[in-house]
Amino acid sequence: MPGAASSLKPNERAAPDASAPVGIFDSGLGGLSVLRAVRATLPHERLIYVADSRYAPYGERDDDFIVDRAMAIGEWLVGQGAKALVVACNTATAQSIALVRERLTIPLVGVEPGVKPAATVSKSRVVGVLATAVTLRSARFQSLLDRYAGDCRFICQAGHGLVQAVERCDTSSPALMALLESYLAPMLDAGADTLVLGCTHYPFLDRAIRDIAGERLQIVDTSVAIARQLDRLLDAHALKNLVTPPDTLPRFHSTADGESQRQLAAALLRLDAKVEHVDIPSRRTRLAEPDIV
Ligand code: DGL
Repeated sequence: MPGAASSLKPNERAAPDASAPVGIFDSGLGGLSVLRAVRATLPHERLIYVADSRYAPYGERDDDFIVDRAMAIGEWLVGQGAKALVVACNTATAQSIALVRERLTIPLVGVEPGVKPAATVSKSRVVGVLATAVTLRSARFQSLLDRYAGDCRFICQAGHGLVQAVERCDTSSPALMALLESYLAPMLDAGADTLVLGCTHYPFLDRAIRDIAGERLQIVDTSVAIARQLDRLLDAHALKNLVTPPDTLPRFHSTADGESQRQLAAALLRLDAKVEHVDIPSRRTRLAEPDIV
């Protein structure tokens, strides 16, 4: 519409259109498992991914820090022209989604552990959940259990050390296998037949989980459901891109050096894309590192 852009005030941004990218972020590399599902479901969409690897793992941070980072990254992605945002982190969703939804004007999708699908498919009625300590102690997760656990017993285990392993691109070392086994053995001993991956880093450990548990555990990973939810949301807001963009490789950004992200994207997603370093200061990181402006 001629003249529409010029009617904006200096600080106002034009509403994004269907050709604008979708922003996806995580505390680190875990959201790449969500990005993989989004690319498969919505191949026409342009994607911008931010890994906040400098400040990962969020699961060992306090709640205010997580909210602060989620807001700063969400605002940065809006500034990059994102038309929708996927908070591809269970921990950030659990602590910040209500506030981010309130403050950002673009449509938003968060992720949460698949308690409902697990309770539907479990035959033994014993389900294991692996997630970060922050997710497991959140009111949001408790409310998921209250609403959907039904007659299922949920054995919840914080996956201390697993996010750090994936951030190092370690998905199979003996130390990692021993750690994972120490988390899965009590679930298997208790008769669990289903495992909820309540952290987006964990789908990269699916082979390791299979090596330990064989076919005894069916794995519930919500990344495909998230991609479908994004699809519905874009449709509802008439924001779906129907033409293939010329640059179909995602734009990758990392608040760390990005090397692990490049390696993981190449090894596990077969995406040979460069990763740009980005500084996204926020109230809490400015306090801790006052030289960052
Ligand atoms: N991928 C994040 C999640 O889904 C990991 C959080 C963390 O950095 O501890 O929870």
